[in-house]
Amino acid sequence: MKSAILGGRLVAGARLPPTRALAEELGLSRITVLTAYEQLRAEGYIVGRVGSGSYVSKSHAAPMPPRRTAAKSIAPLTRYARRARQLADWSIAAQHCDRRLDMQYGRPQVNPTLGAIWGRELAWAATRTRLEYGNNQGLPALREQICDYVARRRGIRASPDQVLIVSGTQQAITLTSRVLLDEGDEVAIEEPHYFSAWQQFGAHGASLLAIPTDHEGLVCSALPKQAPRLVMVTPSHQFPAGPALSLSRRQELLRYARSRDCWIVEDDYDGELRYDSSPLPALRSLDGDDRVIYVGTFSKVMFGALRLGYMVLPEALCDDFINAKYLCDRGNPAIEQAALAHFMEDGGFERHLRYMTRELNARRRELIAGLQQYAGDRVQIADAHAGMHVTVWLPDYDHAQVDALIADAHERGLGLYSIAPHYRTAPAVPGLILGYCGLSKAQLHEAMQLFGECLDAVDAAARESLPTRRQQV
Ligand SMILES: Cc1ncc(COP(=O)(O)O)c(C=O)c1O
Repeated sequence: MKSAILGGRLVAGARLPPTRALAEELGLSRITVLTAYEQLRAEGYIVGRVGSGSYVSKSHAAPMPPRRTAAKSIAPLTRYARRARQLADWSIAAQHCDRRLDMQYGRPQVNPTLGAIWGRELAWAATRTRLEYGNNQGLPALREQICDYVARRRGIRASPDQVLIVSGTQQAITLTSRVLLDEGDEVAIEEPHYFSAWQQFGAHGASLLAIPTDHEGLVCSALPKQAPRLVMVTPSHQFPAGPALSLSRRQELLRYARSRDCWIVEDDYDGELRYDSSPLPALRSLDGDDRVIYVGTFSKVMFGALRLGYMVLPEALCDDFINAKYLCDRGNPAIEQAALAHFMEDGGFERHLRYMTRELNARRRELIAGLQQYAGDRVQIADAHAGMHVTVWLPDYDHAQVDALIADAHERGLGLYSIAPHYRTAPAVPGLILGYCGLSKAQLHEAMQLFGECLDAVDAAARESLPTRRQQV
């Protein structure tokens, strides 16, 4: 009724329906309607006339001016807003097509019982968590669990004092920018790279250098002679192309950082999920010089909506990062942290991880088998031993053909995604990132069958256009 009065649909002096009739019509108790009318009266929207009912009051009857929708057209007020606006134009989310068989990378969780388990952990934690502001560095119990976990699974030795709980990798990058970068400072980042990292550093005003990668990960010899302020890498599983950073390159990178006094950010987004061997130790585990800022996230191994991650910080940087976190948000929600600490402590987290690894491995195998069966040698499968996606290259096709393939697949209910947005300059060979986390084995088989049909269609179109091209020549 309020919006009807403000919007002019109920005009000044209009009579409101009697409360009894309205209660019946809406299936509400009369008391509810009387209370609502009383509230409208108290706020001055309506007036009561004894014995005659309620009427729209004169003072509120004029329609409100339309909501200002001009915000988009104002000039950005800060340099940050300007840069962020430019970067937002390339949003990868815009690619999202939500097809029946959607292979978007990063679709969450494969453990169907996780939701129920997590609900119980939250309920448990809610009754045990103190409700005043918590420790802005993160719940000590969670930091201890993380230290124990990264020591066993990622080979990292650190004390809980070096751990900072953050809202995922995104916030880790924001804090890193605030603490380590002034506008114009250089950041070296892999090519291809995690698009959001590029966006975040770019919005902060960093000057970004795209450093090539190959089958051994970052090509360290391509790093500039004059060191950037920091180098951002995904050593366990180069994102999105796939390879792990080789041992010799790891050593080269650490030597580079030491000799040139620069920092390394290790984004270990899915390092736990390795299928044909044990997880590889983190780069941070080799770091004798305390230069690697290690970033872990629960987005992949739990679910993205959790928004919990952690940083293992070089000792020299701890105070500045903890201050930055305090200034940013005073710390992450305590109940979620307590629930996660408990889940880790009683072994539930690693049971879930074992389940997830088995299940994802089965899906990955299904995907690869489907690719071999239906796409054959028309695709090259990149290093596919880890994570939640497989990257494939299509060397026999050009970019326009692969765009047509994606569009055709979308029409047929198959969501395919190009690797191109993760590059600054389009790769020589077109490629696709096939996320297999959100589809069952049967769905993956069907998806690959459809993929093969889409490739057939592109091949047929190429054959048809061949004579025409020849005629033109
Ligand atoms: C390379 C990379 N790093 C980190 C993340 C996770 O980010 P967050 O922890 O903010 O969810 C992702 C998720 O897609 C990713 O692809």
